Amino acid sequence: MLKIVVCVSGGGTNLQAVMDSIADGTVTGTKIIGVISNNKKAYALERAQKAGIPAFCVSPKDYEVREDFNQAFLHKIEELEPDLIVLAGFLVVLPGEMIKRYAGRIINIHPSLIPSFCGTGFYGLRVHEAALERGVKVTGATVHFVDEGTDTGPIIIQKPVMVEESDTPEILQKRVMEQAEWVILPKAIDWIANGKIEIKDGKVISRQ
Ligand code: GRF
Repeated sequence: MLKIVVCVSGGGTNLQAVMDSIADGTVTGTKIIGVISNNKKAYALERAQKAGIPAFCVSPKDYEVREDFNQAFLHKIEELEPDLIVLAGFLVVLPGEMIKRYAGRIINIHPSLIPSFCGTGFYGLRVHEAALERGVKVTGATVHFVDEGTDTGPIIIQKPVMVEESDTPEILQKRVMEQAEWVILPKAIDWIANGKIEIKDGKVISRQ
């Protein structure tokens, strides 16, 4: 059984997609053992509680020094002892120590086809604004392993989504979530839980 901790900052629709996929058997061999938010008001925490999943808030606002927050966050993760950490709309830069300690055991969902519209500053609506500004006809979402860089880790799965001429950033964001994010995040977790992928030479390949 793959024990996962999901880290969230907002609405938690990706968390919901993972919970639903475990409940309906689309994702197997996986148990969510905890949800951590940096934001007390995140609706994602309520979603977790409703599903009977332990939910915690570790907020930088409660610590004067960033390093103290980093330690508290890492401590909470260590206490839970996850096999995999899933960043599902988590807006906090992870402590470097944590990325090292959990190398190959942290994944993130990003709402574009990496390497487009990713890296520092590309989060939330900004990603979709940039895609519309550039006039791309196709965008999408990516699930990748987390390394020391921003959105630079090995890519696990991507799914394209068509852009329409009448799109606003909000409309495009919604379509990318519905058509791509909520599909590929559960799928990536299922692949990992069932030993279907491995990282080789910095790339994700399927296990034969
Ligand atoms: C998603 O677009 C995700 O890709 C991201 O932030 C959003 C989170 O949405 N980086 P939710 O909290 O899962 O509803």
